[in-house]
Amino acid sequence: MKRVLLIIGGGIAAYKTLELIRALRKRGLAVRCILTRAGKEFVTPLALSSLSGDKVYEDLFSLTDEAEMGHIELSRDADLLVVAPATADLLAKMASGAANDLASTALLATDKPILAAPAMNVRMWLHAATQRNFSRLEGDGVRFVGPGEGEMACGEFGPGRMAEPVEIADAIEAMLGVVTKGKPLTGRRVVVTSGPTLEPIDPVRFLSNRSSGRQGHAIAAAAAAAGAEVVLVSGPVSIPDPAGVRTVHVEAAVEMLAAVEAALPCDIAVFCAAVADWRVEPAWQKIKKGTSAPTLALIENPDILATIGHHSRRPRLVIGFAAETEKMLDHARAKLARKGCDMIVANDVGGEAGVMGGERNTVHLVTANGVEDWPTLDKAEVARRLVERMAALIEGSR
Ligand code: CTP
Repeated sequence: MKRVLLIIGGGIAAYKTLELIRALRKRGLAVRCILTRAGKEFVTPLALSSLSGDKVYEDLFSLTDEAEMGHIELSRDADLLVVAPATADLLAKMASGAANDLASTALLATDKPILAAPAMNVRMWLHAATQRNFSRLEGDGVRFVGPGEGEMACGEFGPGRMAEPVEIADAIEAMLGVVTKGKPLTGRRVVVTSGPTLEPIDPVRFLSNRSSGRQGHAIAAAAAAAGAEVVLVSGPVSIPDPAGVRTVHVEAAVEMLAAVEAALPCDIAVFCAAVADWRVEPAWQKIKKGTSAPTLALIENPDILATIGHHSRRPRLVIGFAAETEKMLDHARAKLARKGCDMIVANDVGGEAGVMGGERNTVHLVTANGVEDWPTLDKAEVARRLVERMAALIEGSR
C-alpha cells in the first residue's frame, strides 16, 4: 500500500483536506497527517485521525512522538509528501530551507517527491515573494496542483483557491504512478488540446479569446489519473501544468495542429482548446498609428479537430467540444458529422452561464445515438466522468 504524508497548513482551505483524506483512502492509499500549529486553528486532530485511521503528528515538540517516530522517519516512511493547504508561509519556509517546526523539518528531511496545493489570498499568491518561492520550488522539483481561480473565502476574486480534493487526489495518484484497478485507461495514449490560441498581429498585438484552459487541463489530469499516458497541447493559460502529464506549450493554431500531429499515434484525442478561427499575416514591425485605421485581412485557421477527425492516423476515439450561445444541440450535431468525431461535448457559453474561466460546467454529450444531459458539475468532476465514458467507449470499440 502506498503511503502519503499529508502536511496541513493554516488556511481556511484546510477543511477540504478532510475530504481529500477520504478520497485517498477510498483509492486504497494510506494517509498520515502532520498538522501545523496554524492548521490546528482550522481542523481538529481528532477529525484528521478519525478519517486517516492513524495518529496525527503535531508541531508541538513531543518526546514520545520523537521516540516512536521522529521527523526523519515520518518523511522516510512515506512514498509522497503532500502539502495542502500550502500557505504562503509554508512555501516560503520550503523555498528557503527553513526547519523550525515539525512540518518544515519533515519537508527538509525527505528524499521523497513533494506535491504542494497552494491556497491563499490572491494578493499573497501574486506577490513577487510568493511567485519567487513558487518558481524556486518548481526548480527544486516540487510539483504543484492549483491554485484555481474563483471567488475566495475573503470575498476577493482571482487565483489562490486551493485545488479541489479530487484534483489533488488525481495528481497524487499520477505522481505515485499507482497502477491498480480503477485505472481504466492504463496502456492508452491520450492527446488533449486546451486553452486559447494566440494569433499575432504584429510583435506586440494578437487575437485571442477568453478560454482559461481549466476544462482541458482537468481532462488531461483525469486521464493521467486513470492510467493513460497523456500529452496535453496547451495554448497560453495562467493555470499550472497538471502533474503526471507531458505538456507541450504552443501559441498559434498552426503550432497547435503541428504539436497534435507530432503526438500521433494515440488511442484517444480530446479537443477542448478554443482555437481562434482566424489569424492574420503578422507584420514584422509594430504597426504604427497612421491617418487611417489598418484593415486586418483574416485568414481561416486550420480546423484541428476536423483535420484529426479525417486523418490517415485518426485516433480510435475523437472527441470535440462545442461552445455555443444558441441552438446548441443543432449546432453540436452538425459539428459531429462535419468534423468526423465520435462525440461532441456541447456547452452553453452564452449569457450568464459563466463557463469560460469559471469553475463549473453544464454539458450535453452528443453522439450519433442521441443526447445525454449532465447536471451542472465542477470541471474536475466533468473531466472524471468523461474519462470514465472514454474508457467505456474505447473498450467497446475493440
Ligand atoms: N476546433 C479546432 N480547430 C479549430 C476550431 C475548432 O480543433 N480551428 C475544435 C475545438 O477544439 C472544439 C470544436 O472544434 O472541439 C468546436 O469548436 P467551436 O469553436 O465551437 O466550433 P467552430 O468549428 O468554430 O464552429 P462555429 O464557428 O460554427 O461555432
